[in-house]
Amino acid sequence: MFTALVIDEVDGKVTSSIKELSEDLLPQGEVTIDASYSTLNYKDGMILNGIGRLVRSYPHIPGVDVSGVVRESTDQRFKAGDKVVVGGYRFGEIHWGGYSQLVRVPADWVVKLPSNLTLFQAMAFGTAGFSAMMAVDALENHGLKPSAYEVLVTGAVGGVGSIAVALLAALGYKVAASTGRPAEHEYLRSLGASTVVERSELEEPVSRPLESERWSGCIDNVGGSTIGHVLSQLRRGASIASVGLAAGSSFTANVMPFLLRGVSILGIDSVSLEIDKRAVLWERLAEIFPLDRLDAMTQEIGLGDLTRYGREILEGKVKGRVVVNVNS
Ligand SMILES: NC(=O)c1ccc[n+]([C@@H]2O[C@H](COP(=O)([O-])OP(=O)(O)OC[C@H]3O[C@@H](n4cnc5c(N)ncnc54)[C@H](OP(=O)(O)O)[C@@H]3O)[C@@H](O)[C@H]2O)c1
Repeated sequence: MFTALVIDEVDGKVTSSIKELSEDLLPQGEVTIDASYSTLNYKDGMILNGIGRLVRSYPHIPGVDVSGVVRESTDQRFKAGDKVVVGGYRFGEIHWGGYSQLVRVPADWVVKLPSNLTLFQAMAFGTAGFSAMMAVDALENHGLKPSAYEVLVTGAVGGVGSIAVALLAALGYKVAASTGRPAEHEYLRSLGASTVVERSELEEPVSRPLESERWSGCIDNVGGSTIGHVLSQLRRGASIASVGLAAGSSFTANVMPFLLRGVSILGIDSVSLEIDKRAVLWERLAEIFPLDRLDAMTQEIGLGDLTRYGREILEGKVKGRVVVNVNS
């Protein structure tokens, strides 16, 4: 038997409860993992609240990330005792996820824990941190280099945002962090932001197709009117890595920045990235991220706290990263 947070749909409403389940209910997969930690991402908040039709069938165990120790594996790449991380491939969406003491997944979804990370730190990153790493990688592959001009991070106090600010600063970039939370300006500076921009300034729909060139790149976690606004302020040849939609999924923009400044929008899809590239990016994240900054942005909760936190992340009230101890 193992304990998990189970969500169910009754009369169109999603409810959650902590249950004891039998191991034979676990889905198919070559690797069975004794889970240590999971985490809370924006998408987990959507799933816990039944938003976005991400879950295909109920009852369901959510949690799009997990770290833990392999209990048994029928795939020779893994053996009992290996410390591993799982995220992406719709784990926690259409496959039972990480809010569970026991997890079973296909071996092709499993990444070995980078040797300098603890299982806790891996979930302090989670999909949010991994996506921040993907965004930085995409921007660099598109020509981003440290310069006198700032890289903008929107939704900066959130999970992806906090990791992105600290990651870019550690790589030598000048970072501007945009937030709607005035009380967190000092927090963002402590992560490495040199400038803090009010969210409302960027939310204004653009009045002119081209504004003054301001940003050498952008990691955008909010979408909506902000992305159209930022587009008009990108420097020549610069790019936006489009990660999230906390403010909305549609936007209005003008094509002039594409035609006259050669700017780009790069899509970040952390769910379906190939496993080999995933392992490489986990290693890079572990190598370059200032791990002493993780503590300041991370809090630990238990399975029983998820209903409340799942609501709060959708309301934009969660700061930094939330690690879920699945054994507490
Ligand atoms: N593409 C991918 O593969 C991928 C992977 C991970 C996450 N995501 C997406 O990335 C986004 C961020 O995820 P997360 O886990 O970091 O979530 P999060 O912790 O909730 O952060 C989102 C941040 O967006 C800002 N925000 C919230 N509501 C807003 C609104 N109505 N208008 C403007 N800004 C708002 C807030 O930042 P401030 O308080 O600083 O303003 C909030 O902290 C989500 O949309 C998520 O779905 C995508």
